[in-house]
Amino acid sequence: MIERLSGFSLFNTTKAPIVNHSELASAKILVIDDRPLSRMTVVDLLKPEGYEVLESDGDAQTFESVIKTQPDLVLLDVMLTEVDGLALCQQIKQDIRTQDIPIVLMTVADRREYRLKAREAGADELLTKPIDRLELSTRVKTLITQKQLNEGLNQTEQVLFTIAKVVESRSSQRGGSCARVVSLVEAFGEYLKLASEAINDLVFAAHLHDIGTIAIPDAVMLKTGELTPDERELIRKHVLIGESICKPLRNRKGVLPIIRNHHEKWDGTGYPDGLSGEQIPYLAQIFQIIDIYDALTSDRPHKKAYSPKEALAIIGEETEKGWRNPQLVAEFTQFIGILEATTNLEATTNS
Ligand SMILES: [Fe+2]
Repeated sequence: MIERLSGFSLFNTTKAPIVNHSELASAKILVIDDRPLSRMTVVDLLKPEGYEVLESDGDAQTFESVIKTQPDLVLLDVMLTEVDGLALCQQIKQDIRTQDIPIVLMTVADRREYRLKAREAGADELLTKPIDRLELSTRVKTLITQKQLNEGLNQTEQVLFTIAKVVESRSSQRGGSCARVVSLVEAFGEYLKLASEAINDLVFAAHLHDIGTIAIPDAVMLKTGELTPDERELIRKHVLIGESICKPLRNRKGVLPIIRNHHEKWDGTGYPDGLSGEQIPYLAQIFQIIDIYDALTSDRPHKKAYSPKEALAIIGEETEKGWRNPQLVAEFTQFIGILEATTNLEATTNS
């Protein structure tokens, strides 16, 4: 049984980087759960965000309903009475008509075995009940944005994004995340009142900036010990390789300087061109600060994530050394302060 609920818009609609936020708000989400109360809880969390929410109790016809309704995202309970949630997930992911629909599995126990099974079944995310509103909201937004972004890409872009995804999965154990960087560049771009074209270039760069590392062997990319001068030189080449890989992006020329110059330093000691000050393309300066901030605030095998305050202090020290644009770092610090205050306020309100 599928029931339709209407929603209303909540997302910011001032800027439209690639995915129009009003399109995001009108996205269709199918919630599959055989327990009405548990289903209603999720529906109540999603409705205020403006999504069109469909409900299903997970009967034998559910897969047919997914084909027919083509939702933008499926929230699926693992423990259904009539069908096996994991098997249904797998079925959706294996059918050409439904395989691009992101699936978030819901489970009561956060056990490693569930995480492995969810991954095997092709699920994009696994959330533990009781569902946290902020976590749900963030995951849903990221997955729907990603789906709409993929739908809007041309063939060349599709290929490049696929390669970039492979590159990201290889280096993901080093920390950082494309999805987080995308959210940050969108939000900081809006904070700086950049044109939506510029924000789009930053979003593309978030996906593609390190695509050139594909040409660097694992032995060097994943090395945990100190790099030799030759290995360091090899890694530095990723910006030039990345730029040449992305040259076919005819309508997205603004991305190339970000890819090429995201490791320059304000005092001219960066690479590949040794540019200094305002010679460094502005979007590359913005992107670099976000990329560093994301790396610092992410867990890595050899270090725990720094808090936002600690990460800003490290970026501040680097600015004192002359590596970053002081004006831009001041704006970024202010922006993170506002972001943190908003997040804390939302968490307090919902706790
Ligand atoms: Fe890089």
